Amino acid sequence: MKIMAFVGSPRKGSNVDTLIDKVIEGAKSKIAAEVEKIYLYEAHIKNCTGCLACTAFRGGQECPLKDDMVGILQRMIKADMLIFGSPNHVHSMSAALTNLFCRMQPLIKMQAIKDESGKLIGATATTLISGKKAVMVASQGDFSPSASALLLRVLDSNLKDFRLKKVAEVFSTGNLETANVKNKEADLQQAFEAGVKLVVL
Ligand SMILES: Cc1cc2nc3c(=O)[nH]c(=O)nc-3n(C[C@H](O)[C@H](O)[C@H](O)COP(=O)(O)O)c2cc1C
Repeated sequence: MKIMAFVGSPRKGSNVDTLIDKVIEGAKSKIAAEVEKIYLYEAHIKNCTGCLACTAFRGGQECPLKDDMVGILQRMIKADMLIFGSPNHVHSMSAALTNLFCRMQPLIKMQAIKDESGKLIGATATTLISGKKAVMVASQGDFSPSASALLLRVLDSNLKDFRLKKVAEVFSTGNLETANVKNKEADLQQAFEAGVKLVVL
């Protein structure tokens, strides 16, 4: 079994990273998994330029950007489980995780629907990672959970777009300070149990 985890925080070893480690620990308590953790702020992943080359509208060509994403996409297709983690940055996902989802667009295989005159009227989609199990992880500074309503929705919507099977959400509040979550037993336990769910659900 292979797990790929994406740390969308620029702070290595901090809240999101700690929670992701706990999810991995939970999964590993059930199976001997091979784990690849990618720090998105260290990886060489260029910003999506919006050329749309990878979409059905341009014939589903290869992404012209040649960087770490080429291998990451191939390994995602082979992975069994995926973990996506983000801090709340200005109410939503971090820039690096947003860019990851943009650069994952080549995984979406769209079928254009045209009318009799050939005019584009819609599209259906499948993805190359459909059905894989996923956990989403989020941490915020604010103490009120509502501060991440948008972040949680955006994360959830992206997992749906990629046809992933979300088995758990891990969410921790009041973590403005670096690695604050390390002292929160309940939140760490929530993350551990999400990891167990990755395997058993
Ligand atoms: C640029 C920036 C924007 C932030 N915006 C918000 C916000 O809108 N709401 C919030 O609750 N916390 C916000 N925070 C706080 C982070 O979400 C919080 O510190 C989080 O736990 C960081 O996770 P990390 O330590 O893994 O990076 C922001 C932090 C940064 C650096």
